[in-house]
Amino acid sequence: MSTPSIRADHHSMRAFRHAVLRYYRRHKRDLPWRRTRDPYRILVSEIMLQQTQVERVIPKYRSFLARFPTLRTLARARFAEVLREWLGLGYNGRALRLWRCARAVVRETGGKLPTDVSELERLPGIGPYTAAAVAAMAFGAHVPAVDVNVRRVLTRALSGRNDISPLRVSMLASAALPKSSAGEWSQALMDIGSMYCKASPRCYDCPLRVSCAYVSARRKRPSRDRGAGARRMQANVFIGSNRFYRGRVMRVLATRRRLEVGALGREVKRGFSVTDGAWLQGILASLERDGLVRLDRARKTVRLP
Ligand code: ADE
Repeated sequence: MSTPSIRADHHSMRAFRHAVLRYYRRHKRDLPWRRTRDPYRILVSEIMLQQTQVERVIPKYRSFLARFPTLRTLARARFAEVLREWLGLGYNGRALRLWRCARAVVRETGGKLPTDVSELERLPGIGPYTAAAVAAMAFGAHVPAVDVNVRRVLTRALSGRNDISPLRVSMLASAALPKSSAGEWSQALMDIGSMYCKASPRCYDCPLRVSCAYVSARRKRPSRDRGAGARRMQANVFIGSNRFYRGRVMRVLATRRRLEVGALGREVKRGFSVTDGAWLQGILASLERDGLVRLDRARKTVRLP
């Protein structure tokens, strides 16, 4: 049985690019962060989108920017105010990283985000993906921004497989990048990844199906690949998990200056008792490690940074 090629040839790369851009021209999602080139707004959207679905991000993106319209207003705020705007999105560590990043930028450059990918990456809270996304989408840098959706589309469409090494993904991402509009290009791949090339793909009406290596590989090996992209839905184990209680702790602290640990326990967990003390200390220690809370062990109190 032949193995699909990892390297896409020149012709299929062109066909792929053409199909992606054609789809985006016609069906691009009209998202609020796509109507701006303001690097701060794009940064906010990218941090929010890291672990949260587009539909849930849109209203938070709007309310957050109404409250903190510029990087300077964010940097001037207290963390508690930032957290209050963030609550509901989850993964509150992102709010802390964004706030710290804003403060670092104001401290170091007076409030202007750098245009260069490597300088962006040096900022606290900005990883390689976010740096590339901001550089490409706000400043037009010629760099691929590869998130999970983009990785899946590139991998399948150009290698015919579900999984290839990160190095190969990165080579394909650079090879596929069109000469201009790198930001639009990545967002086009994101749209296709979230609408068609999902974990369980919708190849039958995918706009890339004619040029897609994964579709032709499946045609050749239908039995082996029939369920290849299928993923089991995760059971909803969130409620009652440590992440759930971390969120509750942050929600309570968002409106308090300082709270005694036992009082906090009673607010976050119904029926909280002395036997829950070690469990709560574990949750607080993990939040403290992430820099989200400050514990005063002598006084048995906790507060936001
Ligand atoms: N996920 C991350 N960035 C995105 C963007 N700009 N548009 C849609 N989904 C995204």
